[in-house]
Amino acid sequence: MSKLSDQVDWHYVMREFWNVYRFSSAGGSKPIRSHQREVRNRLSAEMEGDPPVLVREPKTLPVCAWLNRALDQGLLERTAPLVRALRHVTDELTWMYGYERVPRGLIRKYGYAELMGPDGPVASERLILGLVLFGPRCTYPAHSHHGISESYICLSGVVSESNAGVYAPGSLLFNPPSKAHRITTGDFEPTLLAYAWTGTSDKLRNQKMGFTRAPHRTN
Ligand SMILES: [Fe+2]
Repeated sequence: MSKLSDQVDWHYVMREFWNVYRFSSAGGSKPIRSHQREVRNRLSAEMEGDPPVLVREPKTLPVCAWLNRALDQGLLERTAPLVRALRHVTDELTWMYGYERVPRGLIRKYGYAELMGPDGPVASERLILGLVLFGPRCTYPAHSHHGISESYICLSGVVSESNAGVYAPGSLLFNPPSKAHRITTGDFEPTLLAYAWTGTSDKLRNQKMGFTRAPHRTN
């Protein structure tokens, strides 16, 4: 089993992730600032411990047809340093749906891949980091995460959350525990989001990127 310090490409993915959470603005929001700090602190602590990088079987999904375009577009944006680092690990990613029954509208247009977490590739019990990729004109139904604080960073494309705004690369979307959110993507380009989840080890271990339908209509 290799350590993060031996896996130079993964090391720089982690470093650039940290930089995004260090240098992106909280827009004056105290809860967002404290979430950014929490992500940074947990990531720093993990990196200092030189965690194992677990070997996972690479997997692709139909949405990966859009990955090159999403990465190319992402290289033009202010979060390009993270996108550039990600390009060197894309062959190793395990893309998943996270549902037992995938909603029909998501089969070709959605997938997520973990970068750090209890199942790796970079091992952590305290923090989950990953990527979500959407094709154009995709709706990701309302969902919430119990006991997990979540942020998405837009790396490529444009996204709207719960019809409340339009977010371009560099934007951070924050979802506190149990807040229902629904995502839609732009008409012509794929959207690549990075995400970070913080919570107790127990909650992190037992949740996947799947959704629980909100009990009420949220759109
Ligand atoms: Fe979410």
